[in-house]
Amino acid sequence: MSSIAEQRFSHGTALVTGAAAGIGNGLARHLADLGMFVVVADIDGNRAEGVAVEIAERGGRAEGYGVDVSDAAAVETMAAAIFARHGSVELLINNAGVESAGLLWEVDGDRWRRLMQINVDGVFYCLKSFVPRMIEVGTPSCIANLSSVGGLNTVAVQSPYIVSKFAVQAMTECLHQDLSIVNAPIQVSVVVPHSIRSEIFRSAQREAPTTDPTANAVFAAMQRDNLEKGLDPLQAAEHMVEQIARGDFWVFSDDEMCSASATRRGEQLLTLSPPSNPRDMLVRMGVPLPEGTS
Ligand SMILES: NC(=O)c1ccc[n+]([C@@H]2O[C@H](COP(=O)([O-])OP(=O)(O)OC[C@H]3O[C@@H](n4cnc5c(N)ncnc54)[C@H](O)[C@@H]3O)[C@@H](O)[C@H]2O)c1
Repeated sequence: MSSIAEQRFSHGTALVTGAAAGIGNGLARHLADLGMFVVVADIDGNRAEGVAVEIAERGGRAEGYGVDVSDAAAVETMAAAIFARHGSVELLINNAGVESAGLLWEVDGDRWRRLMQINVDGVFYCLKSFVPRMIEVGTPSCIANLSSVGGLNTVAVQSPYIVSKFAVQAMTECLHQDLSIVNAPIQVSVVVPHSIRSEIFRSAQREAPTTDPTANAVFAAMQRDNLEKGLDPLQAAEHMVEQIARGDFWVFSDDEMCSASATRRGEQLLTLSPPSNPRDMLVRMGVPLPEGTS
């Protein structure tokens, strides 16, 4: 018997942002394997094209599209082009996102704005350009936005990222409610990955290095953990796409870790507790505590 994803996503068009690497790459490959035509959208247009070529070599259907999701006009041009070419989009996955390390008050202002432009404005611009067209076409479709376990629980030394993921979480819940008001046949999911092998920490350290030794050590440990223990992006995509296909709002990469994260948030609010002590995390990661503290 075929899976729900095999039945639901064997046809139609999917657009995945940030699909040239990591999680987006896994999602693009899996959706093409299921039978969808996949638009591999990424700021790195050449790499996106390379992924589309690889998909075609595996017998799938895809095209690369170079776009910076933080550029509203470019996103609008992309949406117009995709609808003109394919007529409809059955699955939009807002996946593009970047990380940043550092103590909150030391984060560079330009980096803060750039991260918010990509992680938050980028999702908003895609919704603004795609939702009205999806409503106009009127056939059933899905939108999945990538939040994170960091959109459920705060984590020290990565505040812009955490703030952005709480925002994506809230934006997705608002989208779900607003679409219900207009009775649109668009299903909404929030994707909450735990650790999936990707380039996110390395890219952050390359693009916006921090001088804070604790933040650097935390990112080095997270990168190491991500490579050693992170899920394979294709396997994670299979698990997450199956949940989207069955209509879940909450979509997890790792059921146990992500449910534990949601439970932790619930318990924090129920008991009105402050955020967890970050020192416990540092010890767990083997990161030395800052000098003069214990
Ligand atoms: N990897 C994880 O464990 C993990 C965990 C939780 C959440 N996430 C979320 O998953 C999503 C994907 O992350 P990843 O880990 O695969 O990262 P990644 O760095 O491996 O891939 C991100 C992709 O997004 C593209 N991108 C960056 N800025 C862009 C822009 N302005 N416009 C278009 N494309 C852009 C990059 O070129 C890259 O191909 C992110 O939203 C991230 O926050 C990842």
